[in-house]
Order: sequence, then C-alpha cells, then structure tokens
Amino acid sequence: MNTAHIIGVVGGSGGVGASVLTAAIAVRAAQAGLRPVALDGDRLGGGLDVTLGIEQERGVRWPDLAAARGRFDGPELIRRLPSVDGVCVLSFDRARDVPLAAEIVHEVLLALSTAADVVVVDLPRPDHEIFAALAPSVDGMVLLAGSGICGLAGASAIAEHLIRACPDVWLCLRTSGKGSHFADTVAGALDLPLLAVVREEPSLAADVLHGIPPGSSAKGALAAAADKVLARCVVGARRDAS
Ligand SMILES: Nc1ncnc2c1ncn2[C@@H]1O[C@H](COP(=O)(O)OP(=O)(O)OP(=O)(O)O)[C@@H](O)[C@H]1O
Ligand SMILES: [Mg+2]
Repeated sequence: MNTAHIIGVVGGSGGVGASVLTAAIAVRAAQAGLRPVALDGDRLGGGLDVTLGIEQERGVRWPDLAAARGRFDGPELIRRLPSVDGVCVLSFDRARDVPLAAEIVHEVLLALSTAADVVVVDLPRPDHEIFAALAPSVDGMVLLAGSGICGLAGASAIAEHLIRACPDVWLCLRTSGKGSHFADTVAGALDLPLLAVVREEPSLAADVLHGIPPGSSAKGALAAAADKVLARCVVGARRDAS
C-alpha cells in the first residue's frame, strides 16, 4: 500500500509564515511531479485554502468530514478536495467551525497518506488537541522560527515538545536577510539541525491576493526553502530507508 511522506510544519511564534511555508512545500512537491496534499491543522487559522488562493473553489473541507463514521477512502477523498496546480487541500472553513474528534483527524490523515506521495501538515501548537491527533503519524517536523527575540523565545519553548513528539525535527529560520552564520548560531542554541533559511518573498502579499500559490515562482525565496525541506524529508528519507 502507498504511504506518503508526512511533513509537519509548526510556527515557533504566531504569524511567522508556517502556513505559507506549508503551502510552498506542497506547491514545489507538485512541480517536482509528486502528488501532494496540503492539510490544514489550524482550526481557527482562517483556512489553508486562503493561503493557496482557492477559497472560492468548491470541494470537501474539514467540517464535511466531522460526522463521518469508519474508514475513509483515500483516493475518493482526494478527488473531492479543492486543488490548485496539482496541490489538493483539506482546509478548515471560516464560515463553519465544527469540532473534530481526534479519531477522525487521525483516520483522515491515514487515508490521505494512502493516496498521496507527500502530505504537508500545517500543524497547530503542540498544546492543541489536533496536534496530538496528527503528530504520531508525522515522519518529520519543521519548526519555523522567527529571527527576532520573541520569535526565538517562542521557538525554544516549542522545540522540546516537538522533539518529544517526533524523532526528526528540523529548523527553518525566517529572516529578512541576516547571514547564514546567524542561522547556524540559532540552530546550535536550539540544538536542532538547520534545514533552510526562509527569506522574505517581496511579491508574496500581492501573489496571495491574486490567487498565486506561495512557492509558485521557482526562483523565489519560498521555493528555495521548500526545495530544501523536500530534499531532506522526501529524497533524504528514501535514501535513509534504502
Ligand atoms: N517568506 C515570506 N516572505 C514574505 N512574507 C511572508 C513570508 N512568509 C509569510 N509571509 C507573510 O506573513 C504573514 C503570515 O504568514 P502565515 O499566515 O503563513 O503565518 P503563520 O505562521 O501561519 O501564522 P499563524 O500563527 O496565524 O498561523 C502573511 O501575511 C504572509 O503573507
Ligand atoms: Mg498559520
């Protein structure tokens, strides 16, 4: 049975760019010929469909699955999801907030992983019940830390929870342009391997407004960071397994 690589992305602090990085990883995976699903784990986050610019698209969202019973059919579920540029998205819905049982969240992730190559999960903070439902199935987690003092403090508070939940935790540092030496220092202080520096993408706000998914431009900062995550989490994981 097909089993996708499941990558979790967690923001070390609010608004650091975790949802955008999640979307960019999924977009770059699709551009590399993989079948990605972007999974929204942030119930009141506004919706990962908005980040990907497809909030107007019809299709299944989390509240449609809340009352389901039993196993989910992965390929059928993926067929019913809204998608853009080869990225299928299971998003929360700003207009309908429905609590989800942990068992449903877990079952949905398992079903998706049978029909996708990569599932990229926009994880909430580790103290959230949806984190607890998703984390045991995640193969690798990316902690996206901000480079300011509050961003670094938040990342250090979260890091140990991630390490307890997942054997492979990597650091990405969001920075407006400090050198790689600073990123190495942060990685050393947090005791996490540095995967990528996520630089500013000046066109991002306009792109999101115009429905252009993050990571779409192969030359952009987000595509570069997403490629590094994919190289480690998917290509590297395949190499480690062989
Ligand atoms: N690499 C980037 N370059 C420029 N702007 C970015 C970048 N990443 C994120 N942003 C901007 O930062 C804002 C927050 O991004 P995002 O929603 O991904 O953060 P988040 O960490 O998911 O926030 P939350 O804590 O609410 O979940 C967005 O307006 C987005 O346009
Ligand atoms: Mg978010």
